[in-house]
Amino acid sequence: MKSMEAIRAQFPILSRTVNNKPLIYFDNAASTQKPLLVIEALDNYYRQSNSNVHRGVHTLANEATVAYEGVRDQVQNFINASSRSEIIFTRGTTESLNLLAYSFGELLNEGDNIIVSMMEHHSNIVPWQLLAKRKKIEIKVADIHENGELNMEHLISLMDEKTKLVSVAHVSNVLGTINPVKEIIIEAHKRDIPVCLDGAQAIAHVPVDVQALDCDFYVFSGHKMYAPMGIGILYGKEKWLDKMPPYQGGGEMIKNVSFDGTTFNELPYKFEAGTPNVGDALGLGKAIEFMQQFSFTEIMAHEVAMTKKATDILKDTGDITFYGTAEKKVGVVSFLMNNIHPYDAGTFLDKMGIAIRTGTHCAEPLMKHFGIMGTMRASFSIYNTEEELDAFAVAIQTIKSIFE
Ligand code: ALA
Repeated sequence: MKSMEAIRAQFPILSRTVNNKPLIYFDNAASTQKPLLVIEALDNYYRQSNSNVHRGVHTLANEATVAYEGVRDQVQNFINASSRSEIIFTRGTTESLNLLAYSFGELLNEGDNIIVSMMEHHSNIVPWQLLAKRKKIEIKVADIHENGELNMEHLISLMDEKTKLVSVAHVSNVLGTINPVKEIIIEAHKRDIPVCLDGAQAIAHVPVDVQALDCDFYVFSGHKMYAPMGIGILYGKEKWLDKMPPYQGGGEMIKNVSFDGTTFNELPYKFEAGTPNVGDALGLGKAIEFMQQFSFTEIMAHEVAMTKKATDILKDTGDITFYGTAEKKVGVVSFLMNNIHPYDAGTFLDKMGIAIRTGTHCAEPLMKHFGIMGTMRASFSIYNTEEELDAFAVAIQTIKSIFE
């Protein structure tokens, strides 16, 4: 692996200060920072090639189209999809899930059900609730164990002949748990139930091979994997995407339009109405290039080591409750310092230049399950260092001495 100095040099923001302290950015599960090659890709696109795609014969239109479609190939390769037609550009995980709930949802009938889990982000709950209302379907919720692992027995027991989809997080944004998604898919497929994986928190941290997983849908955001905000992916098996009606109407997604009726474009364009977000897609391509400097073995080893050290620091402080202690987890540590409000602690950490997330993390049902109002969450990335954790340890000790 490259030296930490060389990795950090690729992220201009990491050399800024916050409240006169060097920035320590431990909020990577909310959004990662962007390396120079991503920032420069946007700048270069708008300076040199800005044009609408798929629509012109002129040079700029061709350049933009070739670059944009090239990113689709990169994404196909990155997640090992069998065809580029299975890669749909969206605004992010949330839009991918809404697309699916709307469009896949059209294939469902009253009385059907879908299964999610107790640890889902609101984005993998609310779109299904909207569908449930529209189509009069039921949402079943799989339980979790106290350590933040999925209760597989319960999940499997919920599957029945009316189950039309299982939609679960690959990795939990609060607990860090890496769910046994392969096992879920095998069990669901035995019953002819397709599976959607919310990969928002997985894509930058664990290897994703959609063919090896055999998942039916996989969704993720660019901005959690070093790309700009506003670009994301819906991967879907062609057999499902073919059956699903378009999500939005407009340009690009049509073959022919007349007032007597409209025919729709082939995949993937059927699901990409309107002018796409070309600049940010190019940023996603560069983010993939950035990630390909590393192996996932290196990424995971680094992030697991950070998690272990952070956990040890907090344990040494005493009086800490952890949320999410699964055996298999990514670099996410959710905790509460007993008797100290997470917002107070988070605000104090900010004064020390340390960014963590506090609150419900868009997972209110999970908070309710644990009987808490929120947690503090530190989440790590490839550019975080042990020295940053040493500063975190000092800040946590100070908080303890001030607030207790
Ligand atoms: N889903 C993001 C998080 O967990 C915003 O912080």
